[in-house]
Amino acid sequence: MQTESQNSTEPLLKTSGLTRRFGGLIAVNDVDFEIRPREILGLIGPNGAGKSTTFNLISGFYKPSSGSLKILGSDCTGRSSMVISRMGLVRTFQHGSLMPSMTVHENILLGTLHGIRGHAARRKRAEETAEMLGLTSYLAESAGTLPHGIQRLVSIGIAFAARPRLLCLDEPLTGLNQTEVTDTLSMLERIRDDFGCSVLLVEHNMKAVMQVCDRIVVLHHGEVLATGTPTEIRSDQNVINAYLGHRHGN
Ligand SMILES: Nc1ncnc2c1ncn2[C@@H]1O[C@H](COP(=O)(O)OP(=O)(O)OP(=O)(O)O)[C@@H](O)[C@H]1O
Ligand SMILES: [Mg+2]
Repeated sequence: MQTESQNSTEPLLKTSGLTRRFGGLIAVNDVDFEIRPREILGLIGPNGAGKSTTFNLISGFYKPSSGSLKILGSDCTGRSSMVISRMGLVRTFQHGSLMPSMTVHENILLGTLHGIRGHAARRKRAEETAEMLGLTSYLAESAGTLPHGIQRLVSIGIAFAARPRLLCLDEPLTGLNQTEVTDTLSMLERIRDDFGCSVLLVEHNMKAVMQVCDRIVVLHHGEVLATGTPTEIRSDQNVINAYLGHRHGN
């Protein structure tokens, strides 16, 4: 958990020249960005822009081909996902993070396994997390039988049960209806405001991104095309030409 004494000007996470090649393809190319304490940072870009690869690089699932990654000022380049999660970065996966045959309670308990000692304390954390996400009435249900929107919330619950400093969500709004989107966005704001947690949000729902993010990084062909507030990004000519214009032109 983030403490009040943490220097608020020090980035939580900072990449410099982050690059990842797959054979001849450069999926992420010389990417510099930072995530600050208590901010919701949107990472957007067209399909194949390198968003999930960036996620995998900062969470230790992929090793960078070159470049560096710092978390709270410590060099974490090439460190394992286990080490990085202990430093407070927890993520969800684009195509689901839960165990379908286990109950919601058991799933959220999985997120408490590192860092909390004792079954009673873990149960309490899982129950508090479920309550915060509006999942209390589903605790005894098998996760795989629940509606898609609830399963998405359970995935966030597993990640947030660890009370990370930085919660990384890969397309958490896919397939949600408008009410579920609104509820999830206010939950992300609570995670930021009440728990001092930063959120990295990869998302194609532009309206939601513009509404909830404090800042946005736009990736295009693996490179950072623009960084700024939603207002700045909306009026950035490069972004309009390469991405938003292209989308609306479809
Ligand atoms: N494990 C891999 N092996 C080979 N190529 C990969 C691998 N992972 C990603 N790529 C390629 O890297 C590029 C970036 O992919 P990535 O999944 O990061 O994009 P994305 O922005 O998350 O796209 P989407 O919006 O569709 O999820 C794509 O050309 C993709 O085919
Ligand atoms: Mg992706």
